[in-house]
Amino acid sequence: MTSAALSPPAVGEPATEPPVALVGEPHARLLAGPPRHLGAEGFESHLERIGPLPLPEDREARRGVRDLLAAAGLRGRGGGEFPLHRKLEAAHGAGGRPIVVANGSEGEPASRKDRTLLELRPHLVLDGVELVAAAVGAPRAVVLIEPGRASAWRAVSRALAERDAARRHRRRDLAAPEVQVVAAPSRYVAGESSAVVEVLESGLALPRRRRVPVAVEGVLGRPTVVSNVETLAHVALVARFGAPWFSSAGSDEVPGSTLVTLGGGAARPGLVAELLRPVPGHRLLSGLAGLAEAPAAVLVGGYGGRWIGGEAFSRTLVGRGMPGPGGRLLSLGCGLVAPLPAEACGLATTHRLLEWLAGESAGQCGPCAFGLPELARRLGDVVAGRRSLGRLRRLSATAVSIKGRGACGHPDGAVALLESALEVFDEDLRRHLAGRPCGRGADAGWFPLGSPPEEIP
Ligand SMILES: Cc1cc2nc3c(=O)[nH]c(=O)nc-3n(C[C@H](O)[C@H](O)[C@H](O)COP(=O)(O)O)c2cc1C
Ligand code: SF4
Repeated sequence: MTSAALSPPAVGEPATEPPVALVGEPHARLLAGPPRHLGAEGFESHLERIGPLPLPEDREARRGVRDLLAAAGLRGRGGGEFPLHRKLEAAHGAGGRPIVVANGSEGEPASRKDRTLLELRPHLVLDGVELVAAAVGAPRAVVLIEPGRASAWRAVSRALAERDAARRHRRRDLAAPEVQVVAAPSRYVAGESSAVVEVLESGLALPRRRRVPVAVEGVLGRPTVVSNVETLAHVALVARFGAPWFSSAGSDEVPGSTLVTLGGGAARPGLVAELLRPVPGHRLLSGLAGLAEAPAAVLVGGYGGRWIGGEAFSRTLVGRGMPGPGGRLLSLGCGLVAPLPAEACGLATTHRLLEWLAGESAGQCGPCAFGLPELARRLGDVVAGRRSLGRLRRLSATAVSIKGRGACGHPDGAVALLESALEVFDEDLRRHLAGRPCGRGADAGWFPLGSPPEEIP
């Protein structure tokens, strides 16, 4: 299944190339190809650059694709890092007519990696969609994109038209799935996998508690493979260059390169980079984020991620599957790495994000609908100096009572954010409790809420 069009580095060769790549750089994998200013790569250039997609033609070959993805150890890049091949085996084994969903919702306001892929390399994502559809026998696939992201929407629609035109000349591809672009509601929870199913059934972004995984029983009862668009783009490369090549990047626990978005006080918030190997945090901060000094803290994994102290982050090897400070797994989640700006208060910023997360609840589960606003209110009291240790204890008790009780992971993410803030900003907390807040603020520009502007740096 390997192509000669691109020469991947020989497996086992010591990695001499830099561990981080930007769009168009020769050592990049997902971000390789034309520079950003040329926009979406066309089908011809895509095929010339990496060769044709080896599609399976019979049952045996379809099994081969699933085995290849298992050998590659490809795990999801949408946050949960679930092994892709296990999802495919579940969907394939469930019978019926599966559906494949390329999840490009990217509800995390500061994340740009998914729309960057859709805007610049739509054919990588669509290759992944076609191959995964073939591997599970899905006649239909959907690419979910928020309609406000016009460049991504346009790039994918144009790419689909190019593929249709090419297909008319080649009989072999007639079995390709029917692929549609569908509007993802502009909500934080819209990209959660059970909400994705609901969006496709009713148009509403409502997560549902499910008896069985959506891979087994999803849209209209059909097995539904919901995969992040970055995960699918990796599939396109694994199919061409093989499992050993793929897993020569990344970590043992989560093989393959991974995309991150810089945010917060980074010099170029919104910059998307590809980590080929785990990178020392200080290199990310000084090189990519353009910071001269370690920040007080770094938000890692999105607004439902965790704060990590700046010094601890500097000493950490940043990559998927790596242990973070204190031996806890460093969850990269949606891939956001956002240093706290020197002018910002970590607690006030957390309060602002928590209020927003509370407003993004789908309002179905008590702990989430009532618990998150309560949590935000109590933290607001502490931040504003309407203090007391009693309030802080009640804050922690509310957090504990919410954890694990929603139908989806939304409240758990919000609680993780809060708990990490209480740990990392403990000195600030003491000052706030003593009625001596730092006076720094929570400026809206550093951590955008809702859909960020269209243009990308
Ligand atoms: C509140 C919430 C929001 C989520 N939003 C997204 C999203 O915007 N995009 C995404 O790909 N996954 C999102 N996820 C993760 C999905 O539920 C799902 O795990 C993922 O799309 C599966 O793809 P993967 O296996 O390729 O990671 C979200 C999860 C939660 C709990
Ligand atoms: S936990 Fe919150 S966001 Fe998730 S389903 Fe329940 S109410 Fe909705």
